[in-house]
Amino acid sequence: MKTNRLWAVAIAVTLAGSAHAAGGAAMTPPMGWNSWNHFEAKIDDATVRAQADAMVKSGLAAAGYRYINIDDTWEGERDAEGVIHPNKKFPDMKALADYVHSKGLKLGIYSSPGAKTCAGFEGSLGHEVQDAKTYAEWGVDYLKYDLCSLGPKMQAAGGLEKAQAIEVEAYIKMRDALTATGRPIVYSLCQYGFYQPWRWGPSVGGNLWRTTGDITDKFGRMIQIGFSQAGLSKYAGPGHWNDPDMLEVGNGGMSAIEYRTHMSLWALLAAPLLAGNDLTTMTPETAAILGNKGVIAIDQDPLGKQGDRVRQEGPLEIWAKPLKGGAKAVGLFNLSDLPANVELKASDVGFKGAAAMRDVWADKDLGKLKAFHAVVPAHGVVLLRVD
Ligand code: GLA
Repeated sequence: MKTNRLWAVAIAVTLAGSAHAAGGAAMTPPMGWNSWNHFEAKIDDATVRAQADAMVKSGLAAAGYRYINIDDTWEGERDAEGVIHPNKKFPDMKALADYVHSKGLKLGIYSSPGAKTCAGFEGSLGHEVQDAKTYAEWGVDYLKYDLCSLGPKMQAAGGLEKAQAIEVEAYIKMRDALTATGRPIVYSLCQYGFYQPWRWGPSVGGNLWRTTGDITDKFGRMIQIGFSQAGLSKYAGPGHWNDPDMLEVGNGGMSAIEYRTHMSLWALLAAPLLAGNDLTTMTPETAAILGNKGVIAIDQDPLGKQGDRVRQEGPLEIWAKPLKGGAKAVGLFNLSDLPANVELKASDVGFKGAAAMRDVWADKDLGKLKAFHAVVPAHGVVLLRVD
């Protein structure tokens, strides 16, 4: 009974929202950079400009990375009219947006539907229309809207449906405020997967919605988040994506093998690719992992289908993502601490007879095969394109 009512709410919201979805197009998963994973509160105007410079210089902009996203801790005080101003770390947000745009990139910003952001800065509660207008005036192209202090209000609401209604209403309020600006602004919902956002995210204008709690730069946490996405593929598509959080590639807590697993899994999931490292100091190896053209093409494939689990055998997992034209991207994952032999039959991923297989990271054609065996390193992946 309760479940039925919840679905009814979700459907009603879907219908109401479909007529005027906010957001930029995000026809493929957004790609860019976000300040939080590496810099947290140590982010300022100069650092953001340096990241934009490095995005271009490193070749990552040419590889498709677009958004330079400022996360929490930029917020200052509101003036007598209630208009939000950045704090002293960001002397002139419009000038910063102009600078980022001059590099051919786009600027993202962050706020919360609550009174305070997660780091305790000024949120947008009661100022949604004003804030959306300010962001548009600055030239902002992307908003991450992070639940934060609205969470306790939802918990106190007394029950699942009331809590969900508070959340949905808050996200709709900002969607309408963004729409009213007339500027395309990608709308990123950040609410840690509470109340199955994949069911109602598109209806509140979300171009992407977080499906999990925060990632950390540890293999265990990364795979916990990544592999928990099984079963969510049907909810993603052009303009609306599941978001298992930002990348940790290059932050130092995982090996290159593990970061390739991270990047491969995110590409198979059609996840947003938001680099979370310091682009100004990254090694060539990190740049090569983030910038791998074959892997990015899987993530950005125009069909816009998210991949899903095909098979699991303890710590060995096979995931596949349909690509435009009938090909499949296939990941053979070994989550164990020792190398393992993994077999893929072409028929496992829907091919009759032999199929052309290509090792994406090795950039090497393997030939037309009915079956492929690989020794996959501990914590590693072999990523294939099967045609
Ligand atoms: C939450 C979000 C993170 C980050 C921080 C900022 O934890 O999930 O991605 O934005 O808030 O305070």
